[in-house]
Order: sequence, then structure tokens, then C-alpha cells
Amino acid sequence: MQSIFLLLGLFADAISASPLEQQPLGRIRPTDPPAGLAEGLRKPLRGRFLHITDFHPDDLYKPGTSIDRSCHRGKGPSGYFGAEGTECDSPLSLVNETFRWIEENLKDEIDFVIWTGDSVRHDNDEKLPRSADEIMDLNAFMSQKWISVFGEEVRETSNAVPMMSIPVIPTFGNNDIMPHNIFNKGPNKWTKRFAEIWSQFIPEDQRHTFVEGGWFTTEVVPGRLAVISLNTMYFFDSNSAVDGCKAKSEPGYEHMEWLRVQLKILRSRNMKAILMGHVPPARSKGKKSWDETCWQKYTLWVHQYRDVVVGSLYGHMNIDHFMLQDSNKVNIDSKADGKVSISSKTDYLQSLRNQWSSLPSAPPGIFEELESASNFGDVSEVEPAKKDKRGKKKEKKKQKFLDKIGGPWAERYSVSLAAPSLVPNFFPSLRVIDYNITGLDDVAHGVDMFTHVVDDTAFGLDDPAIDTSGAGDDSLISPEIQKKKKKGKDKKKKPKFKVPEPPSSTAPPGPAYSNQAFTLLGYTQYYSNLTKLHEQIAAGDRGDDPRLDYEIEYTTSDDVYQMKDLTVLSFFQLASRIGEEVAEEKQTGDVNSQDADWSAVRKKKPVNDVWQAFLRRAFVGFPVDDLDE
Ligand SMILES: *[C@@H]1O[C@H](CO)[C@@H](O)[C@H](O)[C@H]1NC(C)=O
Ligand SMILES: *[C@@H]1O[C@H](CO)[C@@H](O)[C@H](O)[C@H]1NC(C)=O
Ligand SMILES: *[C@@H]1O[C@H](CO)[C@@H](O)[C@H](O)[C@H]1NC(C)=O
Repeated sequence: MQSIFLLLGLFADAISASPLEQQPLGRIRPTDPPAGLAEGLRKPLRGRFLHITDFHPDDLYKPGTSIDRSCHRGKGPSGYFGAEGTECDSPLSLVNETFRWIEENLKDEIDFVIWTGDSVRHDNDEKLPRSADEIMDLNAFMSQKWISVFGEEVRETSNAVPMMSIPVIPTFGNNDIMPHNIFNKGPNKWTKRFAEIWSQFIPEDQRHTFVEGGWFTTEVVPGRLAVISLNTMYFFDSNSAVDGCKAKSEPGYEHMEWLRVQLKILRSRNMKAILMGHVPPARSKGKKSWDETCWQKYTLWVHQYRDVVVGSLYGHMNIDHFMLQDSNKVNIDSKADGKVSISSKTDYLQSLRNQWSSLPSAPPGIFEELESASNFGDVSEVEPAKKDKRGKKKEKKKQKFLDKIGGPWAERYSVSLAAPSLVPNFFPSLRVIDYNITGLDDVAHGVDMFTHVVDDTAFGLDDPAIDTSGAGDDSLISPEIQKKKKKGKDKKKKPKFKVPEPPSSTAPPGPAYSNQAFTLLGYTQYYSNLTKLHEQIAAGDRGDDPRLDYEIEYTTSDDVYQMKDLTVLSFFQLASRIGEEVAEEKQTGDVNSQDADWSAVRKKKPVNDVWQAFLRRAFVGFPVDDLDE
């Protein structure tokens, strides 16, 4: 390993003396000429990328039709750029204008695109059922759109296929297949056809893997940062063609094994990874979207590879929100499923809030202390113990809190972000995420040699999954619990699968936990107010060929969320703030009447602004009636 790096280093000096330049991906192999070919395509890193999801283009959409007929026919209020606030899909006018806006406003500002699926209309019109060809055609149309924005002709190559100037990373949505939600073990016709449709986006050496399972890895900053495109169809609870991640015969099992090996390889190469997929690992009283065995492995993997995983990005739910995965508590109350209405979406968000209201409560001032400690580079010792009794008690409280959340970086938890959709169930929306590019000026010299050798056959298969044959239903347990169990007599209940190694004890916290290169710093949520736009179009203020613009809805650093970065601790704080009022209400209810009166007066804080903002933002600012309750 070391000698390869050495070689690369030597080689790098020979070919390039300029700062880090973004490599066009997907077509680079060690056999490609090392420099020159892509010279015109190389770009410095911007520290920013686009996350966009759930386009749902519908070429049957017609303005002026009925929203009860999928905006395909009848007379009704459907607008030129879509029927905001309804279940109708996106007209091509909206899709086209969105790509134009991206080209004009983001093209030179971003390093890669995370595109999390559902790139075709819903199967929601009985009179016009979808065909497999239509699904492929719409997806090909969407791919072509990305190529038209980010594809660049390369004169040196003989074939006319343009190379991508930046990586675009797709993934399967539950509507990108037929019947929707049903995805069989690969290879199948979908993995084969999409390998072609997405040929510009899937690195050549990942093509085989993709055809096998519909998953792949792309190095977006070669040698430093990979994006792992998960095929969440194999985790999805509504996919009745598969059965979770526990049995070796299941594609979900295979997928998790592949993911484990990918993360292991990335760790060994000192690389980081962003995970992405369509269906997020939602798991609350209001909704559970993954098979439980998949959720458990995923949460365990992300916890064990917490030095590698930068963050996890999803779509599908159409509402803007996030989830905390708790690595040592698994406690699902009930199960809900299927398509959700706005009111059940509100219930779902309420159930998240309830979860968050029982997060370990922080002693006052602790986050400020952690922050200043981390600025001085020593977080392990938050303010040395005071001598007096009160100081000691305070100290104990702090330590107890830190123990509960997994130390000063809250490593007990991981975070998944679910971005709102482009399809205007509310308003069309897209997200630009900033990440830290400190110290990346000179890292990627010559790494084009190394691009895409994330290959299962090269590493990793020296550790076959442990299989203690048959038995053991509760084999999916966290290492902490395993340790406890081992101490007891219960030795034979070893997990049936290989539990990943944790980070080495000397490894610093990963970019999801402590601000460093690749840490997600914040995002800007953009939206387009179609109501306003349609009013202007109706008034004749937008001309014959109306355009659509996106404006900022909010940023994570603004005065409401006040997130200094997107580390897990920052999300922990935000979640605690969103959950806060419930905890106070509970307290009030518990005490005797005299105290209750007193506390009712003292706690006259009628609304929780952060929870209100979270709810409003979940629906992209679209007016939703039942929000006030
Ligand atoms: C959208 O763009 C495609 C080309 O990519 C074009 O064929 C189509 O007519 C456009 N549709 C609308 C409604 O603008
Ligand atoms: C990026 O990480 C470095 C630590 O490696 C830190 O000093 C710097 O402030 C971070 N940048 C931003 C913009 O937060
Ligand atoms: C959208 O536009 C409508 C009509 O102009 C306006 O009433 C509403 O406040 C706007 N909403 C947002 C979130 O901008």
C-alpha cells in the first residue's frame, strides 16, 4: 500500500504542479493519458455540491387540467409550472426551467451532484398506466438533461460521447421501476438498462457491480472523498420482492456486505464517504420505511465507520427534515406505512419531535464549553473539575451527559438528511450543501491513477462474514450489547455477520463529528414560489415564454437554526431545541397543583420557534392548514 502511494507521489510531481484540480470522473482509468486529455475540464474545488431529488417529470401534464385527474385532463386549476401543493407530477416546463436555472446559477459553483431518484412520473392515472419503456425514456431524458448542463465535448476522443465536467451520482427511486416499489435481486432488466442510461455517471470499473445490485461508488474527490450510491430498494419495507438484510440469500444482505467492505477499504485508504440513497432510514412512531434488519445493520455500520462517513443524504419523503440514528437504543413503538397525506406527514414530524424531546438533556452551557474546548484542541477534558462541592456536582452532571451521548462529539448518534422534492407537492425545491475543503489544495496530485480502485476483489474478501450456522434471531445487536453479553454466559449468541471494526483508538473523530476537511458546514435551501409565479403569469407579467427562478428559503446558519456546522452535535442541539417544549409540558403536568400553577406562569413560552420553523420548512413554506395545532 505504502509503496503505491509513494509511486503516486512521484508520478504526481511529474505531471502536475498546480493546486488540486477536480478530475472528471466516470471515464478515467489508469490507462487514460494522465494529464492533458482532461486539462480543459479540470476545476478547483468549490466546497459546494447540489442535492436534488424526486423530479417526477410527467410529459402528460397539461396546464388547466384537474388535479383529481393527475393534471392530465378535465378542467381545473393546474398551473403552467405545476400544481403546487398537490399530488400532481412535474410538467416538463418546470424540469426544463430548473435545469436552466442550475446551468446559469450553479454550474461553475459546485463540485458534484447528488441526485436521489424518482426521475419519472407516478403510476397514479388508471387511464394512462406507465410502461417500462416510458420509465426508461423519462429517465434517459433526465440523464440527457444532466449531460446537457455538465457534459463537455472532448475533442481528443473519437466517439462523440461527452465527458462529465463534474460527477453526477444517481440512484434508484421506488418509482423508477415497475411495478413501483418492486425490485428483484440483480442482475435484472432494470439494473442492466440503467447501467446504459447512467453510463455517463457510473465509473467504468463499477459497471459490473451496478448490474449485479444497482449500487456503486464514485470518487468525487479522487483519493479523498467517495460518494456511495446505495440501492435502498433492497432495504425498503414496501418492496415485497425481497426480505431485509439478515438472510445471506437476500440482496439486502449482499448490499450491506458490499457497503461494509467499501467503508473498510476507504478507511484503509484514509478516505471519507458520503452515503446517498432514495428511501431514507425513517424510523419513528409515525413511519418506518426500512426493513428493521437493514436499519440495524446500517446504523451499526455507520457507527463503526464513524471515522469515514461524512453524512447520509436521501429523498423520497418530499418533506424537508432529518433523522438521528441512535446506535445503542433501538426502540420502535409501532409501524406505519404506505402513502402519507399531509396530516399524517404532520403526525410523522410530531413523532420525530417526541423522539427528540427525550434526548438526554444537556446541562446549561455545555455546548458553549465543548465549542471553546474544541477550539483549543482539547475536548476530552471539558473544564477541569472545580474544588468546591457545587463545582464537583456540576462536573458530574456534565460527565453524565457526555457519557450518555457518546462523548463530546455525540458519537452515539448519526444523522440522515432528507431533502424536499422538486415535484411541487409543496413548492419545488433544491439544496446546495457547503463542505469544508481546508487543506485540500495539494492532495489530489496524480490521484487519477488511483481513481475507482474501490473494488471488492482487490481487498476485503479476506474477512468472510462470520456465520454461526442457523439460530439466533436477535443477532443484530450493537457491539456494546455484545460486549455485555460476552461478559455474561451468553457466548453463543454471536452475530451471524461480520461486525465492522470500530475506528482505531487513536483515530481522531471523523468529519461527521468534528469540523475538518469534508465536514458538511451548512446548506442553503432554494425554492420557487409557484403561486406567485402563476399569479404573475395570469396577470401577463411574465411574457409568452415565462421563466422560473429559485430563491433562498433558508440557510442552516440563519437566526433560527443557528447551526455553526452540520456535525452530529449540531443536529443533536437542533433536535433538542425542536423537542424542547414537549419536555417542559410533561414536567408541568407531573407536578402538584400548587407547583403547576407556579410553573405555568414561569413557563409562559407559548410557542417553540424552532419547532415552528422546522414544520414550516418541512413543507417548503407552502401554507398547510393544520400546522398551527
Ligand atoms: C423541454 O426540453 C426538451 C429538450 O430537452 C424539449 O424537447 C421540450 O420540448 C421542452 N419542453 C418544454 C415544455 O419546455
Ligand atoms: C475546516 O476545518 C478546519 C480544521 O481542519 C478548521 O480550522 C476550519 O475552520 C474549517 N472551516 C470552516 C469554514 O469551518
Ligand atoms: C408565495 O406567493 C404568495 C402569493 O404571492 C404569497 O402570498 C406567499 O406568501 C408566498 N409564500 C412564500 C413562502 O414565499
